[in-house]
Amino acid sequence: MQSLLLYCRPGFESACAAEITDLAAMSEVYGYAKTERESGLVLFDCGSQESLEHFASQLSFQHVVFSRQIVLVAPVLELSAEDRLTPIMLAATELPVCGKLFIESADTNEGKALSALCRKFKPHFERSLVKQKRLQDKESLPWMHLIFESGTRAWLGISLKGRRSPWPMGIRRLKMPGSAPSRSTLKLEEAFHYFLTREKWPEYLKPMTTAVDLGAAPGGWTWQFVERGIKVIAIDNGPMEHNLMGSGLVKHIRADGFTYRPSGTVDWLVCDMVEKPARVVERMATWLEKGWSRRAIFNLKLPMKQPWRSVKLYLEQLTERLPDHSIRAKQLYHDREEITVCILPLEN
Ligand SMILES: C[S@@+](CC[C@H](N)C(=O)[O-])C[C@H]1O[C@@H](n2cnc3c(N)ncnc32)[C@H](O)[C@@H]1O
Repeated sequence: MQSLLLYCRPGFESACAAEITDLAAMSEVYGYAKTERESGLVLFDCGSQESLEHFASQLSFQHVVFSRQIVLVAPVLELSAEDRLTPIMLAATELPVCGKLFIESADTNEGKALSALCRKFKPHFERSLVKQKRLQDKESLPWMHLIFESGTRAWLGISLKGRRSPWPMGIRRLKMPGSAPSRSTLKLEEAFHYFLTREKWPEYLKPMTTAVDLGAAPGGWTWQFVERGIKVIAIDNGPMEHNLMGSGLVKHIRADGFTYRPSGTVDWLVCDMVEKPARVVERMATWLEKGWSRRAIFNLKLPMKQPWRSVKLYLEQLTERLPDHSIRAKQLYHDREEITVCILPLEN
C-alpha cells in the first residue's frame, strides 16, 4: 500500500495531518501529510511501503484523536464514468481477501452528493468480489474500503482489525432522543459508546450511583445519566429543564463549576462548560487527584491555531498528573470545535 488515508471532521485536516505525522515520527517513520482544507481527508505518505504498513499495523486507533478512520490505500484510481467496475476489480485483486466492504465518501457536501453513487455501485462490486472469493465473512480479516473522491477518482484500500472504526465513514450516528433537553446529549451518549466498552456499562453506568455535571443547563448530559437511573448533581447558574427536574434524581445547585466540590467521592464527573481548555484540564485533574470523582468525561474547546499541539500538551499534562488513570481523547462525530476526553482508573 502506498499511503494512509485518514477521514476527519472537515476543517480539522491540518490537526489530523499534524497528529499522524507526529505519531509516525515517534515510531521513526518519517513522512508527510497532504490535504486540502475542508476536504475531510488526509493522505499520509512515507518513502517506504514496508515502514508504512508496519506503522499502520502497530498504530493504536483508540489513541488517535482527530481521525475517524484510517485506511491503507493504493494509488488513487482514475476512473471513467462508463465503466468504473473493471479497473476497481483489477485493483482489488492486489488486496488481501477481506471480511467486509465499505463504499464511502468524505463527510462534506461534495461527499454527500456521492452517496447515491456509493449505494448504486455497492451491490455490483460486492457481487464481483464474492464471485472471485475476495470477500469472506470472517472477523479477523481486513475490511475493504472504496472511497470516492469524485465520480471519476477513488481510493481502494484496507483497514486492519483492532485499528479501525467499525462504522461506515468512521461515523457513529445516533438518534436524537425526543425527551432530551438539548442536542448536546448526543455528545455524551457517543462518548459512552466510544470510550466505555459495552461489557463495562453495567459497572460504569449503574443505577443509583452519583454523577456531577458541571455546566449542566439545560440538561442534555444530565439526561443521559437520569435515563440510566443515575443521580446527578447539576451545577449551573442557568435553568435546568423542568421535566428533568421532575425525575427526582437531579439536584440543581446554582454555583460556579470551578469552585464547587462534592462532600464525598462521586462516580462520575462530567463537564461541558465553554471555558479555556487549560482551565478545564487543571480543574479535571484536581478532581481526580483529590479523589472527588472516580472517573471523568469532559470537553475541551479547541484553539483555532495548531489544535493538535495544544491537545498533545493537555494530554501530556493529564498523563503526568494522573499516572494511575487511562486517558483517552477523541474528536467525536457530535463534537464541533472541541474534543472529548475520558479518564478512567487503570485496572489492576
Ligand atoms: C454548552 S452548555 C452545556 C450544555 C449541557 N451539557 C447540555 O447537554 O444541555 C454550557 C453551560 O455551561 C455553563 N457554565 C459556563 N461557565 C460556568 C461556570 N463557571 N460554572 C457553572 N456553569 C458554567 C453555562 O451556563 C451553560 O449552561
